[in-house]
Amino acid sequence: MERVAIITGASRGIGRATAARLARDFSALALVARTRETLEDTAETVRAAGAKPLLLVHDLRQPDAAGAVVAATLEHFGRIDAVACIAGAVPQADMFVLTDEQWEDGFALKFHSARRLTLSAWDALKATHGSVAITSGTSAYTPKASVAAVGTINAAILALAKAFADRGIEDGVQVNTILPGSVMTDRRLTMLQFYADKHSLSLDAAIDRFAAEVGIARYGQPEDIANAIAFLFSAESHWITGTALRVDGGETKVL
Ligand SMILES: NC(=O)c1ccc[n+]([C@@H]2O[C@H](COP(=O)([O-])OP(=O)(O)OC[C@H]3O[C@@H](n4cnc5c(N)ncnc54)[C@H](OP(=O)(O)O)[C@@H]3O)[C@@H](O)[C@H]2O)c1
Repeated sequence: MERVAIITGASRGIGRATAARLARDFSALALVARTRETLEDTAETVRAAGAKPLLLVHDLRQPDAAGAVVAATLEHFGRIDAVACIAGAVPQADMFVLTDEQWEDGFALKFHSARRLTLSAWDALKATHGSVAITSGTSAYTPKASVAAVGTINAAILALAKAFADRGIEDGVQVNTILPGSVMTDRRLTMLQFYADKHSLSLDAAIDRFAAEVGIARYGQPEDIANAIAFLFSAESHWITGTALRVDGGETKVL
């Protein structure tokens, strides 16, 4: 059966692992990021798993990118069953240092691109009774001054997705958020390097100390998040909507 998904941030990290995982469940995947070369690596993996990749090179901060992604996906594959909004690169800086431009940049990519993509794909998702998963992060529940934009934007995404899920009840579209904890990707390594510098540690020592400090037995792998997104896009989960799914190895120490 034809099933088509759009995945943003598909060139690296969680997005790439999600593409590899969804290639087993979907017949075609539209892969979105800025870097063609790394997207081509993802496309090879998708092809090897038996799905058709479509490479869409866009800077999702641009207001017209989401509409272009949806139009190209419909032109090539004729339908959209799922949208995984994973692209994000919120500036990791203290709230007393963050500039207006950095706040706007963080919102432009992670929040507004997910909002625009969901809006643009909505009619197609209505037609297929499709599903949206928007990536937030556990910092939505534990905002910190030292990385204030990260927690704030992740919290805003929870509210945005909940509002889409509300409309999705009457329109037959399932919308959920996924909240990764500490997942070992390029982005996490940047955070850990920052932590290492702050505490005058080597990167290896920082990796161990941070895990002990936040109380996890191991870092998440991108595949841990990819598997959860695959579940949210499966028939088995179709009554789950408006939910925030935490996948964090127990890092969040509250209910
Ligand atoms: N890793 C974690 O521990 C963690 C924890 C909580 C939440 N998250 C969230 O999970 C998501 C993925 O994180 P990750 O760790 O996998 O990040 P990552 O390894 O840095 O990958 C980010 C992805 O987003 C794409 N991207 C960045 N800027 C873009 C732009 N302007 N337009 C289009 N695509 C863009 C990147 O591709 P190009 O550079 O090629 O464009 C890349 O594919 C993010 O939203 C992040 O906030 C991650």
